[in-house]
Amino acid sequence: MKEPPPSCSTDVGVPSPPCVSIVVPTYREATNLRALARRVASVMAATGGPWELVLVDDDSRDGTEDIVAELAGWLPVRLYVRRDVPRDLSLAVLDGFRVARGDRLVVMDADLSHPPEQIPALLAALGPGTIAIGSRYAPGGWLDERWGLWRRLVSRVATLLARPLGGGQDPMSGFFAIDRGALPDRSVLHPVGYKIALELVVRGRLRVREVPIAFRDRERGTSKMGLRTQVAYLRHLHRLYLAKFGAPARVASFLAVGASGFVVDVACYLSLQALGLEHRLARFLSFWPALTWNWRLNRVLTFAERPRRPPARQWGQFALASLLGLGVNVGSYALLTTFVGPFAQRRLSALIVGVALGSVVNYLLANGYVYRRAARTRAEQRRSRR
Ligand code: GDD
Ligand code: MN
Repeated sequence: MKEPPPSCSTDVGVPSPPCVSIVVPTYREATNLRALARRVASVMAATGGPWELVLVDDDSRDGTEDIVAELAGWLPVRLYVRRDVPRDLSLAVLDGFRVARGDRLVVMDADLSHPPEQIPALLAALGPGTIAIGSRYAPGGWLDERWGLWRRLVSRVATLLARPLGGGQDPMSGFFAIDRGALPDRSVLHPVGYKIALELVVRGRLRVREVPIAFRDRERGTSKMGLRTQVAYLRHLHRLYLAKFGAPARVASFLAVGASGFVVDVACYLSLQALGLEHRLARFLSFWPALTWNWRLNRVLTFAERPRRPPARQWGQFALASLLGLGVNVGSYALLTTFVGPFAQRRLSALIVGVALGSVVNYLLANGYVYRRAARTRAEQRRSRR
């Protein structure tokens, strides 16, 4: 009888080569599992080391369980089913890391978009503090022609937006390897949506090594990526920028929100007049939708990770802070042009200084008051000082 392939054993004290866990998130992939397991098995058999295939399924109810039970008769395949939780690709991968027994972790899609034949190349690229990412866009990489123009464009734009985060040329790849020892602590990870590799890179400050891969479109089943995934991606990116670049990214976000609010302000100002309102009334009224716009965007973007305080009250605080900022803006203009000689001639400079001072006040109040951090307990303060 043929010996079963070596699996990741739970025996302690037996010296063996590092075990590889191949973690595959699945949702309605029953039709792909046999081929996936077969190809993974033949690749891993050639390496000679112990391995396991861990499928993390979001309760697909499409026969996945039966197929895995059948495969498990002759291959080291395990199924972990996530139940009673919203389905989520990134969280499924993190659950997979938790239940996997291997020292080296590989993540790939179930639909055979990612060629299992390239797992050894990914593993070979690993080193301390390193993540190896299977890249479609690295020299030598390849992308299926069946991917339409639209999907390519979305992918390219998404990749460009992530460039400054330092994930290499294809940080959205769902095909990567990492040593368990290099995994960042679970508590620092806050993934949203699909891009778990990017999350690991940024929060874990990992070095990226790219391995060119050939990406094939799926043969069976359907993609689970849609508009919602893309919006989630933008929010995720925003959070990673904040995490990586800290205060400068936050200030940039605040300024960008302010600029967009200005557009809202002008649009309302013009529309109200078009509706026949007197210009001063239009000016007075247009301020409020713009203010509300800014409050809301700062709440969900600039200060996304701060506590979500009751909206009405926070809106009031934001309005107060904005009026104070406006007071400083206009007030400093008046003071400068009245009492500071050089500014009397250069009123435009006084206006610019006023706007800058007003914005600084706005930002400081937003950061320290309207969207302040959660009050920390003494114990937490002591811990973070260490
Ligand atoms: N457990 C679980 N839960 N698995 C999921 C979920 C979920 O909510 N959504 C998707 N999956 C699984 C799929 O079953 C598949 O194995 C894998 O995650 C990728 O899903 P696809 O639906 O095939 O994604 P895709 O082909 O559109 O996206 C691929 O390419 C992107 C790059 O353009 C993936 O590799 C992405 O990770 C990658 O970013
Ligand atoms: Mn796919």
